[in-house]
Amino acid sequence: LDVLSVASEFFPLVKTGGLGDVTGALPAALEPEGIRVKTLLPGYPAVMAALKEGTVVGDTIDLEELGHKVKIHQALINGAFLFIIDYPDFYLRPGSPYMNQGGLSWEDNGLRFALLSRIAARIACGAVSSYRPDLVLAHDWPAGLTAAYLHFEAGQTPPVVQTLHNIAFQGRFSVSELSNFGLPPESFDREGVEFHGDIGFLKAGLYYAKWLVAVSPSYAREIQTPGYGMGLEGLLYDKRSCLSGILNGVDTSVWNPATDKDIHFPYKSGHILTRRSNKAAFQAEFGLARDADALLIGVVSRLTDQKGIDLLAEAMPTLMQQNKSLQCVVVGGGDQQIERQLGNLARRFPGRFACNLQYSEPLGHRTQASADVIFVPSRFEPCGLTQLYALRYGAVPVVSRVGGLADTIIDANAAALSAGCATGFVFEPHGSKAIIEIMQRVCDVFSDNALWSQLQRNGSLQDVSWQRPAAQYATLFRKLVTKYRPEEA
Ligand code: ADP
Ligand code: GLC
Repeated sequence: LDVLSVASEFFPLVKTGGLGDVTGALPAALEPEGIRVKTLLPGYPAVMAALKEGTVVGDTIDLEELGHKVKIHQALINGAFLFIIDYPDFYLRPGSPYMNQGGLSWEDNGLRFALLSRIAARIACGAVSSYRPDLVLAHDWPAGLTAAYLHFEAGQTPPVVQTLHNIAFQGRFSVSELSNFGLPPESFDREGVEFHGDIGFLKAGLYYAKWLVAVSPSYAREIQTPGYGMGLEGLLYDKRSCLSGILNGVDTSVWNPATDKDIHFPYKSGHILTRRSNKAAFQAEFGLARDADALLIGVVSRLTDQKGIDLLAEAMPTLMQQNKSLQCVVVGGGDQQIERQLGNLARRFPGRFACNLQYSEPLGHRTQASADVIFVPSRFEPCGLTQLYALRYGAVPVVSRVGGLADTIIDANAAALSAGCATGFVFEPHGSKAIIEIMQRVCDVFSDNALWSQLQRNGSLQDVSWQRPAAQYATLFRKLVTKYRPEEA
């Protein structure tokens, strides 16, 4: 079964968060299930550079779509089959896939990602000779128009599965762009791409896709409610019979403490003693007091409202006061106000609180291998990957009870501790007060070496690989392909 995955990020070439991790890992994860995934990706600078090193595996295709002449390259890069859109005007820019180096969204993002979706639809309809995917997997809003374009194609088209990694990002653009996007006037309707007077890329994907996959079962439920649906809850509720939740997995070849080149002292998952050496080196790296017994909190996160790091920062002075040896390192960037809040804490608690506001993949790995706790206080969290990395690396996740966090971590309450199945701590997402409360429990358990090791061991025994999720995707894909199989001529 052939699947065309349509993505705006792809690890290790381009990643701003978990979306890149997932699109990058899925192809290899689905291979043992008999599913061949090819990924369509814009030719950002890093992608075009990688193309030079990759292996060309097919002709270059010339296409003219939405008035733009592009080339599509076919290449194998790090074992992954990629269709790369070579269109420097749109994609060969410094900065992130979505923003310039100053952090402002590219003004033509609508067109840039309409083109991505449009080309996906063309490839799905046979623009590349001898390739006809059985199904299209569209990730998040950047690929949202794919299902809309395919809806207006004549003849049989493959079914589209729209994946919902984060519905906070919706891709809304002015209706004045409708014809630039090549969308027919009748598509601008509640029963179509229209969303509150704009064109909604994600809305379009939700509306036209044959199936919707949210990245955790809890998120699939939450987004049908006003508290989490971000205005899309009505449509999501209406489509609930074709909405499922499939948890993300971990790419265990990238996130493996035994072979991790980014950490100071590699160790076998479960061999938690070596973590002490990593912790010492990490404390030195961040100028923290070299205290083996200090409870070290680690955070690796985008700094946005979603992630609740502002709440952790708000709680920090009290936490530092209550536990005189507590330490905290935050690796993450984004919102300037949160960055300032963290900078202030670093000044106020030298040797105990440190932050690095860059994006650094190696630091992300070292934090996982060194911190005692990985803190994820999200206000909402579709799936979350850092708590899964923590389980593998022997850091204990402390997470809010939302979305995929609630689905993946078993709280160390009295019952779970005595049953020996707890893997972390889960608290209600009720602001900094809840953080202060949960940290009291965390500190209590941390002071009991045997209990703490049990949590670490339980975590390392969890299967967070892609095996189970990949099987769920495969079952879904087979079901849909059978249901929407083109009539035999
Ligand atoms: P989201 O996709 O919402 O950002 P996830 O937990 O799914 O959240 O994935 C975040 C990914 O981005 C993880 O791989 C995490 O390690 C990484 N990450 C986030 N911020 C940074 C940073 N500043 N440096 C390195 N890695 C980061
Ligand atoms: C999004 C979500 C995150 C999820 C990731 C990968 O960015 O915020 O929770 O893990 O996508 O699906």
